Amino acid sequence: MGPRTFHHFMDIIELQKLTRTYGDFTAVDHIQLSIRAGEIFGLLGPNGAGKSTVIKMLTTLLPPSSGTATIAGFDIVHQPGRVRAEIAYVPQLVSADGGLTALENLRLFAKLYGVPRRITNERIAGALKFAGLEEAAHRLVRGYSGGMVRRLEIALALLHRPRVLFLDEPTVGLDPLARQSIWEQIQRLVRELGMTILLTTHFMEEADTLCSRVAIMNRGRVKALGSPEELKLSLGISDASLDDVFTRYSEEQPETSSNFSDISQSRRSLVRLG
Ligand SMILES: Nc1ncnc2c1ncn2[C@@H]1O[C@H](COP(=O)(O)OP(=O)(O)OP(=O)(O)O)[C@@H](O)[C@H]1O
Ligand SMILES: [Mg+2]
Repeated sequence: MGPRTFHHFMDIIELQKLTRTYGDFTAVDHIQLSIRAGEIFGLLGPNGAGKSTVIKMLTTLLPPSSGTATIAGFDIVHQPGRVRAEIAYVPQLVSADGGLTALENLRLFAKLYGVPRRITNERIAGALKFAGLEEAAHRLVRGYSGGMVRRLEIALALLHRPRVLFLDEPTVGLDPLARQSIWEQIQRLVRELGMTILLTTHFMEEADTLCSRVAIMNRGRVKALGSPEELKLSLGISDASLDDVFTRYSEEQPETSSNFSDISQSRRSLVRLG
């Protein structure tokens, strides 16, 4: 992936009282938040806190009930097409097709994202290299390890050169080595391509390693916001860890945490390719 130019926005993502309700239940409650260009920003919080709902709204897949957000200056409610051209999304569930090879998946996504035909081969070759999948390019994805699938999914999401990448639990179900390789891939996106990344994770070590700032959500609200170091210091105890921070700000648990359908759904997707 070669160098590229892009406009710098101080705040590339701005949530303005972003809200989503389901009937009487408020999943995301008037969130105000600004994310700077070039940041790796982490959304943390217990199951059901509203993290995926925020991401689905920012990626224009789910309309807000009220409030809005802008990405690279475009409004998610009024300019969803412009927003989509600037972003990529790797969902919590598996998104690559296990019945195709990496190369076939890449060709399919290049078409889907409207990558110009004359640069498609070059883009795909770059993507395979970036994901470390050159050797495996002609093998069916269903035979890949979890880490290889994730690396491919991130490469698929980048074919159209978005400025902002949304990663919903990028390392769930991965072994420590595979997790490490995803961390390196994410860090290179920021360093080499100047991307901005918003990710969710339940691994505090991951947030601590990757994120310049994190927001801890609970019951649809942001309970704490800052760099991992700032949040640890805010507890006022010596040697506080990000786990301590998470526990402190997630004390009131939503009644709906870890409902069965969420869990069975994510497990199904994890075994689907296995
Ligand atoms: N389509 C829906 N209808 C009703 N409630 C929903 C719907 N989608 C999500 N919710 C509820 O909204 C809340 C927030 O869900 P969300 O998936 O955003 O949480 P999360 O923080 O991503 O959790 P997890 O860590 O488990 O992925 C949950 O209580 C969930 O049950
Ligand atoms: Mg989620």
